[in-house]
Amino acid sequence: MRCLTNHWCASQLSQKYSHDTLSACVCLSEVHVSSGADLFSLANQGVIVTGAARGLGLCIAISLLEAQCPHVYCLDILESPMDSEWIAATQAAKKTGGRITYRKLDITDQHAVTKVIGEIFEDCDYDVKGFFGAAGIQQMIPALEYPVEQFRKMMDVNVTGKFQVYELSLRGS
Ligand SMILES: NC(=O)c1ccc[n+]([C@@H]2O[C@H](COP(=O)([O-])OP(=O)(O)OC[C@H]3O[C@@H](n4cnc5c(N)ncnc54)[C@H](O)[C@@H]3O)[C@@H](O)[C@H]2O)c1
Repeated sequence: MRCLTNHWCASQLSQKYSHDTLSACVCLSEVHVSSGADLFSLANQGVIVTGAARGLGLCIAISLLEAQCPHVYCLDILESPMDSEWIAATQAAKKTGGRITYRKLDITDQHAVTKVIGEIFEDCDYDVKGFFGAAGIQQMIPALEYPVEQFRKMMDVNVTGKFQVYELSLRGS
């Protein structure tokens, strides 16, 4: 039996044994420790992907389905996902038996982020344990001419917005 000395393993142990018992060295052979494949498996967990109306985000969403994730939530500021790419995503869901859901969300809108992430946690039949942040903007402006407001906007989406979704996803998990 392999013992994986990580946080997950410690929490499994502490759920099964009292602190004293643990200190006195538990018999590890009694504890079920998952294999590496189980630890990295996406089965039985929901995942949130931002920037998933198209491009990298939607590709990641398809890969998650192919890796047995049962429900992928795609979030993006666009009203709806790109038709051709969404068709490929729904076909992947059909093939793998997973679900893919699209929600419009501006990740810089704190109120909307709180609402949508909360609704996802309520909706999902699985623990939502994964987050992939692909929402982002890129502005092709020479560094020496970069208007500070544009720079702030980029930081707002690429850094603060990403952090906001990540933090709320972690709180709920
Ligand atoms: N494609 C690449 O080769 C590559 C390489 C390095 C880094 N990146 C970065 O990865 C990210 C995704 O790349 P991509 O090629 O798919 O770009 P993309 O422009 O096709 O996708 C980014 C998505 O983010 C969404 N978005 C923008 N602002 C948002 C907001 N406020 N709230 C929610 N969604 C928002 C856009 O609507 C878009 O669908 C970008 O940040 C990009 O800069 C991409």
